[in-house]
Amino acid sequence: MTTASAAAVKPSTPGTPTARLFNFSAGPGCLPEEVLQQIREDVWNIGGSGIGILEHSHRGKTFDKVLGEAVEDFRRISGLPKDFHVLFLTGGATTQNFMIPANLKAQDQTADYITTGYWAEKALEHARIYGPVHEAATSKDRNHCYIPADSATRFSPAAAYVHFCSNNTIFGTEWHETDASGAANWRQRIPKVPAGVPVICDMSSDIYSRPVDFSRFDLVYAGAQKNLGAAGTTVVVVRDALVNRKVRELPWMLQYATFAKDESRPNTPPVFAIYVCGLVFKWILRQAQGGRHCLDVIAERNLRKAGQIYDSIDRSGGFYRGHADAAARSLMNITFKCPTPELDDRFCKEAAAAGLDGLKGHRSTGGMRASAYNAMPEAGCKALADFMREFARRNG
Ligand SMILES: Cc1ncc(COP(=O)(O)O)c(C=O)c1O
Repeated sequence: MTTASAAAVKPSTPGTPTARLFNFSAGPGCLPEEVLQQIREDVWNIGGSGIGILEHSHRGKTFDKVLGEAVEDFRRISGLPKDFHVLFLTGGATTQNFMIPANLKAQDQTADYITTGYWAEKALEHARIYGPVHEAATSKDRNHCYIPADSATRFSPAAAYVHFCSNNTIFGTEWHETDASGAANWRQRIPKVPAGVPVICDMSSDIYSRPVDFSRFDLVYAGAQKNLGAAGTTVVVVRDALVNRKVRELPWMLQYATFAKDESRPNTPPVFAIYVCGLVFKWILRQAQGGRHCLDVIAERNLRKAGQIYDSIDRSGGFYRGHADAAARSLMNITFKCPTPELDDRFCKEAAAAGLDGLKGHRSTGGMRASAYNAMPEAGCKALADFMREFARRNG
């Protein structure tokens, strides 16, 4: 294996730690290089203001512009309908596990959860504090290697909402539509919920990795540190009708209504994380090519990227075993194993030495996990796919 490390090493800047690796970490994940370069400038002096982004008042004109553009650009990417708010909250995606039931479900009302992985299970557990919850479907019988069919999902009669997670970061499964033969066609599938029941989705690890039609959802949340920016903020996209649902008394800072009214800054917001999101949104918009929508271009690239790695699994003669069923394979997090745990360890060590970092799988699945978020270049996935072939040849 000669090419991966050479391809991975980027030009270094004198006086700074040198080479950059291909970072396959599940999150915080890699960021687009042009975004990182812009951050380097703006931390010193943003927009010729003479002050860096970290030092500007969150109520000043510079940050007004950063926040205003971030919201507008987020809306433009997906043509977000007008009756949705875009909020930047703190506390991570995990905080949504309790904010959602606290704001949207009365104590005697049931909420439905589809548990397709660790984070979806956590969301259900946290919601119990606020009264009954119902597990409408689960994939835990096979260690979350698939997405349950609508026919296997049992909704409760009058749920406050249905919650699901569109991409299961740890297990490497994702909700896709399938064609008549059962093969994934990679378009976003959402559960067929009873009419009038709000659909809530944890989209932390696949938001804006492919086209998304927000009009089919009522609340979507995503920790920024995978596809949207840096750790420190969670983007919540919520329909106005839900923002004003009042089911119990809550502290002011736990209410969506507070953040909607004060445009995400009732107090000092995570200014840097919001600023990074803004840069990433502009980067997403710049991916549009030849009259094609930016998310179509990104989705095709993600398909090619993940396709190279899945090919190396499928053509390894059984050396690699993928965790996810074929129709549920994630384009963002690709989970696989070598024939033994010792080989998994060797794989991770040799890959790291070859400039391919962050591949160790989560303890629930073992093996490896390659996270190929939007900012991972195609060259990174090619380098990993080449490395996998060569490793299997040497160890198979
Ligand atoms: C799908 C999903 N949901 C929720 C979380 C939790 O995010 P946070 O650490 O921002 O609370 C993660 C983190 O990896 C995730 O992948």
